[in-house]
Amino acid sequence: MRLLSARLIVSLIIGVTLVSLSSSYYEVLVQKQSLRRDLQRRAEVLGESLARNVERELDRDSIQALQRTVQRFGNREHLLGLAVYDRQGRLIAITKDLAPLMPTAPPVMSQALNGNHGADVFQRLGTAPVNIYALPLHRQEDVRGVLAIVHDAGYIKDQSLRIWRETFLSALAHVFLIVLITLLIVRWSIAGPIARTAQWMRALRTGRASSTRIKVPDMELFRPLAREVATFAETLTTARSAAETEARLREEGQSQWTADRLAIHIRSRLGDGRLFVVSNREPYMHTRRGKFLEVSVPPSGLVTALEPVLCACDGTWIAHGSGDADMEAIDHHNRLRVPPEDPQYTLRRVWLTKEEEEGYYYGFANEGLWPLCHIAHTRPIFRANDWQHYQAVNNKFADALLEEMEGTINPVVLVQDYHFALLPRLIKQRRRDARVAIFWHIPWPNQEAFGICPWQRELVDGLLGADLIGFHIQSHCNNFLQTADRIVESRIDRERFSVQRHGHLTMVRPFPISVDFADAGGETAQEPPYVERSALLKALGIEAAFLGVGVDRLDYTKGILERFLAIERFLEKYPRYQGQFTFIQIGAPSRSHIKRYHDLQAEVEAEADRINWRFRLDRWKPIVLLNWQHSHKEIQAYYRAADLCLVTALHDGMNLVAKEFVAARSDERGVLILSCFTGAARELTDALQVNPYDIDQTAEAIHAALEMEPEEKQLRLQRMRKIVRERNVYHWAGTLIADLCELRLDVPEKARKAHRGASVG
Ligand code: G6P
Repeated sequence: MRLLSARLIVSLIIGVTLVSLSSSYYEVLVQKQSLRRDLQRRAEVLGESLARNVERELDRDSIQALQRTVQRFGNREHLLGLAVYDRQGRLIAITKDLAPLMPTAPPVMSQALNGNHGADVFQRLGTAPVNIYALPLHRQEDVRGVLAIVHDAGYIKDQSLRIWRETFLSALAHVFLIVLITLLIVRWSIAGPIARTAQWMRALRTGRASSTRIKVPDMELFRPLAREVATFAETLTTARSAAETEARLREEGQSQWTADRLAIHIRSRLGDGRLFVVSNREPYMHTRRGKFLEVSVPPSGLVTALEPVLCACDGTWIAHGSGDADMEAIDHHNRLRVPPEDPQYTLRRVWLTKEEEEGYYYGFANEGLWPLCHIAHTRPIFRANDWQHYQAVNNKFADALLEEMEGTINPVVLVQDYHFALLPRLIKQRRRDARVAIFWHIPWPNQEAFGICPWQRELVDGLLGADLIGFHIQSHCNNFLQTADRIVESRIDRERFSVQRHGHLTMVRPFPISVDFADAGGETAQEPPYVERSALLKALGIEAAFLGVGVDRLDYTKGILERFLAIERFLEKYPRYQGQFTFIQIGAPSRSHIKRYHDLQAEVEAEADRINWRFRLDRWKPIVLLNWQHSHKEIQAYYRAADLCLVTALHDGMNLVAKEFVAARSDERGVLILSCFTGAARELTDALQVNPYDIDQTAEAIHAALEMEPEEKQLRLQRMRKIVRERNVYHWAGTLIADLCELRLDVPEKARKAHRGASVG
């Protein structure tokens, strides 16, 4: 940097000096010419007014009078003197001071005489620079002599020298200022950011960077470079942390699933097969913000789990393009490569009309199947029109999937959730060589409950097209087997958990979904919770000694109203916690287009208001409702700051909030209160389990959590954390795909050949 500065300074000095000198040279030249012209004009004016006087004296033949006239005019500014000569060049009169300098007529005289007009010349008399202007004198028409006006031109040179001197000084000042400013710019905008970035990169390289979410120093002028460096750093940090985790696991003799292990595992399982994922929600959504296209990742555990798999094998994810600018980001096959910052797999978008979305997504999936499967006392609505759209959209996705699968051999398909019950059968009918699994992310109720769906047979038949059906827990598998047994013609094997229908075998297995333990803050060293808590509470403008947290989509299955009633009951029963305990409910609005969800939002707000009105004090209230979407990072801060987390779902397939809270508490201090009607309750048996309908029981659990001894909190969390760490989201994806790939497919050679032929052709 020092050498660079020296070179820069020398170049600047030379450059600025050359520019200043050439511009001064030009200025001096212009100035000199203008002074000369000025002097010439002055001589001409003087000559004209003097010539008549001199001619008159000559007419009178009065040499003495002439000499006097000459002498009288001879003392003007810069005028050195005057002289009069006759036609033959003989001197007639001359001013005193000029006489010794100009004894003979200068050559410019003959020029004026011969031309019969004024002529001038710049020359030296002795050592003095002068201007001589010669003007012919007349008698009537005849030329009878010459008047010479001699001006001192020395001041022109003086002026030029002065300009040179001033220019030199100003060039010096310019050089100094420009060098100084350039050095400051270099230091602040180039050297500073580069030094900070270098220091930051050194910290990354040596592993001293504190967090995995790396903030790049502001590189000002080098923003495009900063973006690249940031991506590079993220990759490096991820790779390092993966390597560290692997090393630690090897050291501890554990076989824990990580994103990297999952990727390697999938590559070895798939062989030359290709992987396809189908879900309603897309992993990346484009929206327009003024002139810019923004990409966002909808908050979903699915992206975390499936992205490493898709990246590892360059798979294809097929999903509904629901972003308002999604169409602007695709090629002419409706595809784009993602993740945007480092494209590794293909996202194929499927477009739905407004009516299709209304009927398939809002109607059949979310007003029909969702309440049907979650027994939460909201009546399912089944409309024939919605069912038509549900079938049509399943067919549309099947067409898109088959198109993507064209030419591939041994495709492996993972269908996600209750939006696509018909898809497995539709795929298998046309691609018998495909391995198809569907994972049902919500509960499967018992046969009587499911039986109210007018199209139960079609749904179960569609699902049984799959080779593997996954649920979160065993009891959902059991319910499904019971349903299949009752409503379709099939053979159930309860030993192997399989269903045989029309000669096709479907395995039914539990795969409890989970979170990325490390990403959920599982391995992060933490500040004591009260440090973060006081900052969060201050931002909300309240004071409280104890804090509870709940995080949910605003959905009637989540038991948010029951939770508020339990908080009210707790404050009634234990009034000493009034003014002390505050519960923060983060509730992201969801499906608010549906009336039931819209109403729920209003009910939740009204209930929070009612309870707050009843208990509130000056700077305290029992419930803070934050009903907007929060980022992962913001939610983690609330998890870490809380004394307890309340999960009171009335029915839930798994509930990842419970697992996220456990993962986030690396300080082993919080308490989880968990509804026994969640899938998570099967694994997290060390939570304080409650029946959310039992308001008193939940109120007691809140009290127990706040009064629990730290040792007990620690013990319970340690046991739950071990489970979440080991059975993480990669374990879910890894075992699901491994089980699918291990199944024996009875595919007639003819069918296999047909697709092999297609791939060659
Ligand atoms: C549940 C479902 C998911 C769904 C999520 C969010 O977890 O199982 O399939 O994506 O809710 O709901 P949304 O309707 O907004 O996708």
